Formats: sequence, C-alpha cells, structure tokens
Amino acid sequence: MISLVDITAQNVSRFLDDILEIERSSFPSPWSSKAFRQETDRRVSHLWALRAEGVFLGYICFWMFSGEIHLMNIAVHPKKRGNGFGSHLLAKMIETGRSEGADKAWLEVRPSNIMARVLYKKIGFKETGRSPRYYDDTNEDAIVMSMSLLPFPPLRAGSQAGGGLNSTTTRR
Ligand SMILES: CC(C)(COP(=O)(O)OP(=O)(O)OC[C@H]1O[C@@H](n2cnc3c(N)ncnc32)[C@H](O)[C@@H]1OP(=O)(O)O)[C@@H](O)C(=O)NCCC(=O)NCCS
Repeated sequence: MISLVDITAQNVSRFLDDILEIERSSFPSPWSSKAFRQETDRRVSHLWALRAEGVFLGYICFWMFSGEIHLMNIAVHPKKRGNGFGSHLLAKMIETGRSEGADKAWLEVRPSNIMARVLYKKIGFKETGRSPRYYDDTNEDAIVMSMSLLPFPPLRAGSQAGGGLNSTTTRR
C-alpha cells in the first residue's frame, strides 16, 4: 500500500538521502540538501514523500498561499516511473488545495521536459504563458501552466454560457 508522509523540520533527516538520490538523477541543476531543509521551515511550503512498504518512491513540494498552489518540485525514482505515482502526488496536491480553499494551481516546466508536460496536461493543467530564459543553467524559457481548482469556471457577468442560464442563476 502506498502512503504519503509529511516531511517536516523534525523528520527531514530521515528522508534526505532518498530525496537527494532521486533529485540528482532527475534534474540538471538539483536542489541541495539545504534547499530541501529550507522548505521544511517555510510556512507556506508542503513537502511530501511517497512510499510503499518502506520503499521511497518520490516526492512533491508545493507552496500554498493567497488561495493559490505553486508546484515547486516533483520527482519519482527513475526505476518507478510510469506507474501512476507522479499522477498520485499531483492529485493529492490538488485535493489538498481544494479542501483548503485554493482556487488555482500553477507551475513552470522546461519545454524539453515532454514527460512532465504530458503528465500535467493529463491532470488538467493548460499552458498559459512563457517566462523567457527562466532556467539559468540552460537559458531555457519556462512554459507556465495553470489550472482552475474551482468546481466550475466562474461565470462572466451577463454571459450566456451555461446553456442559457440567466444572470441571476448560479450553476450549482
Ligand atoms: C514527471 C514525473 C514526476 C512523472 O512521474 P511518473 O510516476 O512517471 O508519472 P505517471 O506514472 O503518473 O505518468 C503520468 C503520465 O505521463 C505519461 N507517461 C508516463 N510514462 C511515460 C513514458 N514512458 N512515455 C511517455 N509518456 C509517459 C503518461 O501520459 C502517463 O499517464 P497514463 O499512464 O495515464 O497514460 C517523472 O517522470 C519524473 O520524476 N521526472 C523527472 C523529474 C521531473 O522532470 N519533474 C518535473 C519537473 S517540472
């Protein structure tokens, strides 16, 4: 059975070796152990480990503030990819955001990271912008992706969207 563990300043030392092994095999400019430790001290940051029967599968880090989720990091062990673990981590992040009243999630991804882009699209993210030369190491742009966490897109005033609902009718 898989389980999510909340990584905190108190237990981060137990997980750092596993995290750093995955981090270093996943990214051209990996986060340092200090960077992960800092996340556990940040009030807005959530860092979770995904495990099965004591085996470390991957992790996710996201910030939640001002009603928004910002995905900071996600990685699954290279030997465990393609088994739905990345999808599971993202689904749990979104579920938590919704339950705590966040209405939007967003992230940056390298254009060259096709696997991650496929995953994010599958979850419901849409490409909504570009940040020029966002990645210092390769000078690559970032694709900005976002998704609404609202149950329905908000109605525009006077809009006829929603199958002819009049302006005093809500869609719930
Ligand atoms: C991106 C990452 C987290 C995905 O984790 P994962 O556990 O492999 O993801 P999933 O198994 O949930 O796969 C999600 C979707 O990705 C796609 N996918 C998975 N494996 C794939 C493969 N080998 N080829 C193409 N697409 C693939 C599929 O659409 C899949 O959904 P489906 O199985 O329902 O069709 C993982 O590849 C990873 O750790 N990459 C390195 C770190 C990274 O790039 N993080 C993102 C930074 S922005």
